[in-house]
Parts: sequence; C-alpha cells; structure tokens
Amino acid sequence: MKITVQQIAEPAERQLVEHALKAMKNAYCPYSKFPVGAALLTKDGRIFTGVNVENASYGGTICAERSAIVSAVSNGYTDFKAIAIATELEDPATPCGLCRQVLVEFGNFDVILVSSTSNKVVKSSVRDFLPGAFTPKSLDDHIIQTQ
Ligand code: THU
Repeated sequence: MKITVQQIAEPAERQLVEHALKAMKNAYCPYSKFPVGAALLTKDGRIFTGVNVENASYGGTICAERSAIVSAVSNGYTDFKAIAIATELEDPATPCGLCRQVLVEFGNFDVILVSSTSNKVVKSSVRDFLPGAFTPKSLDDHIIQTQ
C-alpha cells in the first residue's frame, strides 16, 4: 500500500504525519487488527511516537495517542504543538473519548488525522474534539473557590 501525504503543505506537519504512518507499522493489535500510529510534536520540535498496544486481557490495551503522550511526558515534554494520528480507515478515524480527555490535559494543539489507505487528511484541534472539557483549570477554579 502506497502512503502519500501530498495534501499536507507544511514541512513540519508532513514530517509528523510520516512519523505517525511509520509508527503505525509497529502497532501491537493481534486482537482488533486495527493498527493506529500517533506522532506528537513538541513546541521545541521534537517528535514522540506511540502505537496501540493491546493485551489478552482486553482492558489492558492502551491507544496510540496515549502511548505517544506517555512517551513524551516520560522524557520530560508536556508542551505540544500537534499530534498526527494514522489509521487504515479511508475516512481518518478520530481519537476515542478517553484519548480526547488525556490530550486535553495538555492544552489545545493541532490534531491531524490521516489515512494510510487514502489521501484524506483532517485537520482539527484538541478542543474541537472535546468541547466543554473538564480540565486542570476546573480543579484550579475549585481550589480558588474553596479558599
Ligand atoms: N485505538 C487507538 O489506538 N486510538 C483510538 O483513539 C481509538 C482506538 C486502538 C485501541 C485498540 O487497540 C484498537 O484501536 C481498536 O479499538
């Protein structure tokens, strides 16, 4: 399957998408057979990738987006510019609800959804995927109100 990312003009975004598509090949998904790759771009230009890692005890599965976040945070990075998420679906898949909540923890940044089987690209933002989110600010506001 040829993977093309012609629709993405910006070189940094293009590179990010290429990382997500490449990472997808390492997805560990023997149960769902649904590979997902994610690539997270930090504000200072580093890229951390993640894949879905499934488990025979299905609830132990971690999604690609969250494994990318875990990798970046484990290396000391919490400021992000964008995340690219790649699946095989012709219409690019959107992040699951749990991943949306984990992404929003780190503020608002670009989300680029891509397909490895079509040239479709969807550009959006974390906040667009989770309007009205419960965020760290919600907890700060509570602390202020109860002081
Ligand atoms: N998956 C992700 O990696 N990210 C998502 O946002 C949606 C779902 C994975 C989890 C599981 O390994 C497979 O896709 C099928 O649900």
